[in-house]
Amino acid sequence: MEIDEIIARLEAANTEHTPVLAVRDVLDELVADPSTLASALGPVERGGITPLHHTSDLTVLHVVWTPGMVLYPHEHQMWAAIGMYGGVEDNAFFRRTPDGIQPSGGKELPQGDVLVMGDDAIHSVANTRRQYATALHVYGGDFFAADGGSEWDADTFEERPRDMERTGRLFEEANARWAAEQG
Ligand SMILES: [Fe+2]
Repeated sequence: MEIDEIIARLEAANTEHTPVLAVRDVLDELVADPSTLASALGPVERGGITPLHHTSDLTVLHVVWTPGMVLYPHEHQMWAAIGMYGGVEDNAFFRRTPDGIQPSGGKELPQGDVLVMGDDAIHSVANTRRQYATALHVYGGDFFAADGGSEWDADTFEERPRDMERTGRLFEEANARWAAEQG
């Protein structure tokens, strides 16, 4: 299997009546055979976000969470479907209240699981395991749009505009810590 084939299947799903459910079905099939998906996506050597496909109505990312990585709460303002093919992604969910965001549960996402989030979801992500957490993330829009919604400080929950550069720095810091730990 090649990445082009994966993208073609996801693009076709995105034209279905209910794109997010059709995309979820494709991800279910892909993560049911994690070694095939892993070889299509290539070897994992560090954490980060690699765009595989990016248009105004569909974004596909290869996401690798470094051990120890914690990403503060954020929103995407579009549906999202996350297919895990290695490791475990810990998701915590939040809801907006007049006094800011409040925790509202969580979900541990092991290899083989697919998580669907609605367009009003707010979540934070952590990899607390000592192995990379690897996933295919699909979004029903332009993930990198300039007006990408909000993120919230991990400690104070103070709201601010989403900042992909800040996210990138978090990955770099986590990669450096993990590399140092591995010697
Ligand atoms: Fe997210």
